[in-house]
Amino acid sequence: MADAIELAAGDKAGRYAELLPQLESLVAGEPDLVANLANLTAALKQGIATASWVGFYFLRGRELVLGPFQGKVACVRIAWGLGVCGTAAAEGRTVVVPDVDRFPGHIACDAASRSEIVVPVRDPEGHLVAVLDVDSAELAAFDDTDAVALARVAALAGSLAGW
Ligand code: SME
Repeated sequence: MADAIELAAGDKAGRYAELLPQLESLVAGEPDLVANLANLTAALKQGIATASWVGFYFLRGRELVLGPFQGKVACVRIAWGLGVCGTAAAEGRTVVVPDVDRFPGHIACDAASRSEIVVPVRDPEGHLVAVLDVDSAELAAFDDTDAVALARVAALAGSLAGW
């Protein structure tokens, strides 16, 4: 059992190791922020086997507003501090939710969503500009491997021109 778990974790890290350079080359040389974020969400949705929804919420004043995403139609505005996205934004940290039904205030955009991870996106000056939200229809789909890899994706997104 332990071997199987290690193998699974290793596979996931390996998939991210392949995916990250692909994401970097997708955005290389392209100055349009929306086009770049749209392609990042598409590549993440294709590359993360368990993901049912991948998208960015932009920080607009004291609320979050839906940006480029892949998946079902989602709620457009999320108040500061509410839901998983608003919590990650307000606390400036990655939030991993293994079971959304056990997260007080979770905003159910997609009834099929069972677990999610939300990572802050900061510009090169360190200002919060967005959050990256990845949802899954599986319970406990995300762990530290996802948190580390998606922090790199968030850093890539935050380094783009146009925020
Ligand atoms: N579940 C999120 C809302 C966004 S959707 O899942 C796309 C939240 O609780 O912040």
